[in-house]
Amino acid sequence: MKQKRVHIVTMGCQMNVYDSEQMLRLLAPLKYRPTSELEKADLILLNTCSIREKAEHKVYSFLGRLVRVKQRRPDIIIGVGGCVAQQEGYRLVERAPHVDIVFGTFALGRLPSLVRQVQDQKKQVVDINPRGASEPLYVKGPVFKAERATAFVTIMEGCDNFCTYCVVPYVRGREVSRKPEEILEEIRLLVENGIREVTLIGQNVNAYGQKNGHGCDFPSLLEHVNDIEGLRRIRFTTSHPKDLSDRLIDAFCRLDKLVPHIHLPVQSGSDRVLRRMNRGYARDFYLKKVEKLCNVRPDIAITSDIIIGFPGEERVDFEATVHLVRQVGFDSLFLFKYSDRPGVPAARFSNKVPEAIKGERFSTLLEVQREFTLKKNKALVGTTQEVLVEGPSKKSVDQLTGRTPCNRIVNFTDGADSMVHVGQILPVRIVEAFSHSLLGDPGGEGHGEYSGENGGISHAARNESFGFDY
Ligand code: 5AD
Ligand code: SF4
Repeated sequence: MKQKRVHIVTMGCQMNVYDSEQMLRLLAPLKYRPTSELEKADLILLNTCSIREKAEHKVYSFLGRLVRVKQRRPDIIIGVGGCVAQQEGYRLVERAPHVDIVFGTFALGRLPSLVRQVQDQKKQVVDINPRGASEPLYVKGPVFKAERATAFVTIMEGCDNFCTYCVVPYVRGREVSRKPEEILEEIRLLVENGIREVTLIGQNVNAYGQKNGHGCDFPSLLEHVNDIEGLRRIRFTTSHPKDLSDRLIDAFCRLDKLVPHIHLPVQSGSDRVLRRMNRGYARDFYLKKVEKLCNVRPDIAITSDIIIGFPGEERVDFEATVHLVRQVGFDSLFLFKYSDRPGVPAARFSNKVPEAIKGERFSTLLEVQREFTLKKNKALVGTTQEVLVEGPSKKSVDQLTGRTPCNRIVNFTDGADSMVHVGQILPVRIVEAFSHSLLGDPGGEGHGEYSGENGGISHAARNESFGFDY
């Protein structure tokens, strides 16, 4: 079989980054090798995401740019997968007739046979069918992209929570957990290939194992992962506050490889809004979870997602959110303006908040967060942080980049005769702070002594926060 090339464009979340690697594994037996150059590809795959606003618009505008490519090279195969593919289905080939394959979220495992069908029969195929009972959630195969220190590992898929604004339960289906032994085997293989940090991913990782009866819940899975030799750091995302058990909170104290960082989306600080979102907890419940986390791990970094302008959000609701943000002192925040997603209950709610008000509230909260960000990051100047080296920095060719256990980016310049390599954990002295990153000096004084990452200010005590937004 002739060697061919596949170019994958990944939109959206970490789950999709992981799925794109699965696609590469699946296509390897068909002799497809990855290429970063679209022009050289025989197969172009677009792995789509529908969680963000105007997701479909982005997909169609990308596909629009491929019309010319297809005209020039009619043999090229164009495939669209992921959440937008699941949602749009046949509409996709109607609106973009140059697309050859539409494969939904449950059809990932069938990608090779879909590619073969197009190659052999030269006709379009659409597969938005459910996953077959015997189809695995994970494909065994080679580990790609050698020079890296970190990897995502999907441990569960789908969601049963049905928050009223969210499209995930419709496009990713109900919660399904992977078998623990399969996950552990995958992580061992990654570690053998140089990976030092894994991020366990899923829509609601704390619900891992609750339904499937594999006899292993999330804290137990973390314990097993912690025992893997050669692995240095464990992260996980995303957690739902209602499923954050005391055992999981204790894991931050018990497990030496689990980093002191948790992403715990709150979405709103108003009980009335939380109820209408169907989040399953109230503001006080969330604050108690934060308090427990801080008691167990005073240096823990807590990050969160907030939706601004959910239908019916009044000024007082928004103020409750601002108050909560100040109270918790998040390390960083992802802010989203509410927008309707196709078919979700909130799309039918009345009292939509006008765009101008959403914009005002967004800027207000952004400002609250931004001030804290810089102040807190500046408090780190002069401390020494443990940085896992990830590779060259995006900012400058002369710089390397890595992350602290709390997930802060540290860029640093290394000497010409340096032995620093990807995957190394290095003490780096922080010399300058910005709102999105820190500048470090690996040769600086204080080598070997690590300071608390939160500049000596523990969560419980702080009424300030730092972070970033997008
Ligand atoms: N509108 C705005 N933000 C949303 N999110 C999910 N659905 C919507 C929506 N309809 C945000 C939530 C979630 C994050 C990944 O995206 O905050 O945690
Ligand atoms: Fe969506 Fe809610 Fe499930 Fe998160 S928990 S994926 S916001 S439905």
